[in-house]
Amino acid sequence: MSITFPTARLAQVKTPFYYYDTDLLRQTLQTITAETQKYPNYHVHYAVKANANLKLLSIINEAGLGIDCVSGGEIQQVLKAGFPADKIVFAGVGKSDWEIELGLEAGIFCFNVESIPELEVINEIACAKQKTANVCFRINPNVGAHTHANITTGLAENKFGIAMEDMETVIAKSKEMSNIAFKGLHFHIGSQILEMDDFVALAERINQLQDRLEAAGITLDIINVGGGLGIDYTAPEANPIPDFASYFATYHSHLKLRPGQSLHFELGRAVVGQCGALITRVNYVKQGSVKQFAIVDAGMTDLIRPALYDAHHKILNLSSTEPEETYDVVGPICESSDVFDKDIKLPRTHRGDLLAMLSAGAYGEIMASGYNCRQLPQAYTSDELQ
Ligand code: LLP
Repeated sequence: MSITFPTARLAQVKTPFYYYDTDLLRQTLQTITAETQKYPNYHVHYAVKANANLKLLSIINEAGLGIDCVSGGEIQQVLKAGFPADKIVFAGVGKSDWEIELGLEAGIFCFNVESIPELEVINEIACAKQKTANVCFRINPNVGAHTHANITTGLAENKFGIAMEDMETVIAKSKEMSNIAFKGLHFHIGSQILEMDDFVALAERINQLQDRLEAAGITLDIINVGGGLGIDYTAPEANPIPDFASYFATYHSHLKLRPGQSLHFELGRAVVGQCGALITRVNYVKQGSVKQFAIVDAGMTDLIRPALYDAHHKILNLSSTEPEETYDVVGPICESSDVFDKDIKLPRTHRGDLLAMLSAGAYGEIMASGYNCRQLPQAYTSDELQ
């Protein structure tokens, strides 16, 4: 079942706004639960950076997922949504002291630590609070991913993680620290990954690292492979739910877990990407000298992915069934990159038509900005717009 639009109801709402189909979100979550139940030691933490809308968070919490945060603000938001603190993992290359304090006070499950200076600060703060911080080290596995350069993270040149060659030193150091409990390793190679071979490469690298650590007498309780499973932006209606079965099966067949180890995932886009759309109204249709423009009331301030990553979001005209014509769909912002798509076919489009930009549930609403003094987009769920 793909995203469905109650068009008459949507037409009554002030545009632009995000629309979330909660039936599709629930089905996606059911699929995740059904697939992970096959592997009792697998735990999925929803990567809240993809979308922190409270209405969606409460549905994700009901489904029993844990949570992956990268800031103190995200920790506050997920606690507000009711997630239990002991299901929170907290990553990030530059955690501030107050964020570490917050994590310790709340009693989060684990800090994903990215450097020795950070480890030292966590130890100091934990010491002052007489608490113990569970930590995993984020290791940079130097594994490439077939995705956009701006969203690949696991190469040696990226700013993320601790180099593989420093792994034993960092673990040894953590074991000397009074208020640190070393739990395991964390990885993340990038986002919007559709080739299972990329995850195979990560699993194989982790196997090598585990063998190396075992030889040094170091064992791990936790392995966290991050997120990254992509969604189908080209044919979202045909593939509304990502292939979670193959994703988890890939790790099951390639990653050699030791008895008692738990495997953690931090999935963002795959959970919420397809259930959301940006709804916008056409303000003008303009004939340029070589182009026909549909100028809409949403801009890159509402959905920045096309401008930032050349991302493609399929666009539907919900109001017209006339013969197709070719359009550039552009926003009103004073930037030439404020273009949603070029030379696409849409039913003949008129002022006032409602367009839907699909697959916008992840990294859409949350990345909105107030540039040009624009208001942030509102958001509604299908439960609210019946
Ligand atoms: N874990 C870590 C450590 C991450 O850095 C990320 C995403 C995730 C998990 C979740 O990845 P996902 O499952 O959603 O691929 N704004 C970009 C995506 C940035 C992703 C950043 N890290 C976009 O719109 O495509």
